[in-house]
Amino acid sequence: MTHVEPTVVTVPDAESVFQAAAERIVSLITERVAASGVCTMALAGGSTPKGLYERLAQEPFRQQIPWEHVTVVWGDERYVPYDDPESSYRMAQEALLEHVPIPKDNIIPVPTHFPTPDRAARTYHVMIEHVFEIGGLDIVLLGMGDDGHTASLFPNHPALDAAADQFVVAVEDAPKPPPQRVSLTLSTINRAAHVIFLVTGEGKAAAVKTVLSPSQNPDQTATLPAQRVQPTNGQVWWFVDAKAGEMLSTNTSEI
Ligand code: 6PG
Repeated sequence: MTHVEPTVVTVPDAESVFQAAAERIVSLITERVAASGVCTMALAGGSTPKGLYERLAQEPFRQQIPWEHVTVVWGDERYVPYDDPESSYRMAQEALLEHVPIPKDNIIPVPTHFPTPDRAARTYHVMIEHVFEIGGLDIVLLGMGDDGHTASLFPNHPALDAAADQFVVAVEDAPKPPPQRVSLTLSTINRAAHVIFLVTGEGKAAAVKTVLSPSQNPDQTATLPAQRVQPTNGQVWWFVDAKAGEMLSTNTSEI
């Protein structure tokens, strides 16, 4: 397994993070569609991606993306109904998907109507298995919490140890509310071609430093979930604003 160093893009503020990430995503989608005719992207939850989604729904990005060839799934979901204010599906719909010509059949949310997250995770596993049968995950968008969690994979949680062939895992006791969630597993995320982290704000500076400067934190090596996102044959991109990146040394790669 070759570990490719992440590309860290540090920009002044959150709006610049959304702009830079949108430009990168347009390039990746258009390249992928030109090469294979389809592009599958996993959307992130949390508050940070909303600004990116709103930007992708506006010109020039809206018309630059071949939406009819794009399929979206979710990297994780809070286990709430689709109309709940906490629903990541609802957020993506309102900020992005309702405003672009993506076919309805190409939108594959985590089902949240089953009696338990575990039942939903088993069903979503089959859906994600199909995604891999038709070409795999081209882009996974992720946020990160100030404790280093990503998707719904929290530090020291058993969900991190899901079997390598398990695409999706249920979480019943997340430390960040709501406690019930469904998430792609680390091994699934690590099969992606491109993983894009969006991180803003000073509250995340210490976690950003730990994840991106492991040699300066030898006791922390690969313990945080975000740090364990290391695609086997893929590229990781970090788009961080100045506050989130303030503890990084200047020798991280910037473009
Ligand atoms: C969720 C997420 C979670 C999120 C981070 C960052 O809670 O839905 O999947 O991993 O991305 O907690 O959240 P913010 O962007 O709101 O800081």
